[in-house]
Amino acid sequence: MAKLTKLEDIVSLCKRRGFIFQSSEIYGGLASCYDYGPLGSELKRNVRNAWWKSTVQMRDDIVGLDCSIFMHPLVWKASGHADKFADIVTVCKKCNVRSRVDHLASAENKTADGLAGKVCPACGAVGQFTEPMPFRLMFETQMGANVDDSMTIFLRPETAQGIFVNFRNVLDTTRVKIPFGIAQIGKSFRNEVTTKAFIFRTREFEQAEIEFFCAPGTDEKWFEHWKEARFKWYTDLGIKKENLRLRPHEKDELAHYAKACVDVEYKFPFGSGDWQELEGIANRTDFDLRQHQRGMRTLNAWYEKKGDLSKIDLNSESEDYQKGPLSYFDEEAKQRFIPYVIEPSAGIDRSCLAFLVDAYDEDEVNGEKRGLLRFHPAIAPVKAAVFPLVKKDGMPEIARNIYDDIRKYFNCFYDEKSAVGRRYRRQDEAGTPFCITIDGQTKEDQTVTVRERDSMKQERINMSQVKQYLREKLDI
Ligand code: GAP
Repeated sequence: MAKLTKLEDIVSLCKRRGFIFQSSEIYGGLASCYDYGPLGSELKRNVRNAWWKSTVQMRDDIVGLDCSIFMHPLVWKASGHADKFADIVTVCKKCNVRSRVDHLASAENKTADGLAGKVCPACGAVGQFTEPMPFRLMFETQMGANVDDSMTIFLRPETAQGIFVNFRNVLDTTRVKIPFGIAQIGKSFRNEVTTKAFIFRTREFEQAEIEFFCAPGTDEKWFEHWKEARFKWYTDLGIKKENLRLRPHEKDELAHYAKACVDVEYKFPFGSGDWQELEGIANRTDFDLRQHQRGMRTLNAWYEKKGDLSKIDLNSESEDYQKGPLSYFDEEAKQRFIPYVIEPSAGIDRSCLAFLVDAYDEDEVNGEKRGLLRFHPAIAPVKAAVFPLVKKDGMPEIARNIYDDIRKYFNCFYDEKSAVGRRYRRQDEAGTPFCITIDGQTKEDQTVTVRERDSMKQERINMSQVKQYLREKLDI
């Protein structure tokens, strides 16, 4: 059987099995917003946990953080987002649809520069575009109940800035020494002009970011370290190597803060089967900490200008900025400097999509098609399902006991409905690595059947061994 490669099939599996639903579906849905269902919320939590485990729990040099989504407006002035975080867009004069200029395709036989030969993706009109202009991607909202103290604030477009503005707090309250990192997982929001491909590009999404602070001059070494470490994270969790690659950015692609950037790309089954960004790893230099030092100096001006960010001038920097409030003193080298930053920035939703696509497989069992998700045990939503073969002869009671015992350690599922073959198929499709079946023999010799998802091999083990068996096999 052919492996499933079409995005529509993934979308339909996700809906049918309760991984992902359209947001507000009973009201016709809200474009580009999605809800994770019972299986999807387990998958997503497991992906978050796997990231946190490998970056915070298993490393001595990274600590975690959980910042608020709303931040002081000056944060976004200093970071550059208030002025520069925009897509260049154009509006079709025929149908009024706004498009990103860099997403417009050329009409056949038209290779003219500019917009003259470009096609509107909504109505097909060629070259009917307004002058390109910037479109700010940050969502705005009002904070404060009174007219006097209410102000315009932004929903964060990246979690990174919460880390930079807490750099001093973390230094002062923990025993970290450079090189070290701060990690955070959380929601980010961007009013994307084009959303696409299910959960690939949405307006509300979750990021998992590390800001790794190091001494200037060691940044290139750490950049190499993170390229390797982040590639390995995906393959360790089961993504096939042939579907993953590292792509360095061209100079003209680099974000305003980056000295170098490499994308971890996955071969997603949409676009034209193209490689698409899963994660970006950037060398942000000392840009952000320096900018926040400048931003801190403008606080009085911000009050004087009544919070008008466009009137804040960030150009001035003190000559001894290397000794500023966000600098670091290296005790051994007896040197003070603004640290450089390497930033691996991953998307939790995009990772979930890649794990779903990569795990999906079809094979044939006794002439029947079997759809399965070959999830790595660490991310499988359900680790083990427990079935009594039939609903009588004391089997449900034994099965319940085993289930109650192992569910303390793993997310498990109990099912006594329908034929056991059908129950196996349902678990295969949910990606459950093991099914434990209690049958007539269990009462005689205290053994149960353990069936493995990928090979469908079955073995009998003593029922007192189930917990230990799963612990070893799942290795989580
Ligand atoms: N702090 C750096 C930063 O935010 P980015 O390349 O804009 O860099 C990092 O975003 C990651 O966040 C992307 O590789 C992607 O996985 C995820 N991401 C960004 N925009 C997204 C969107 N609109 N929908 C889903 N995921 C998104």
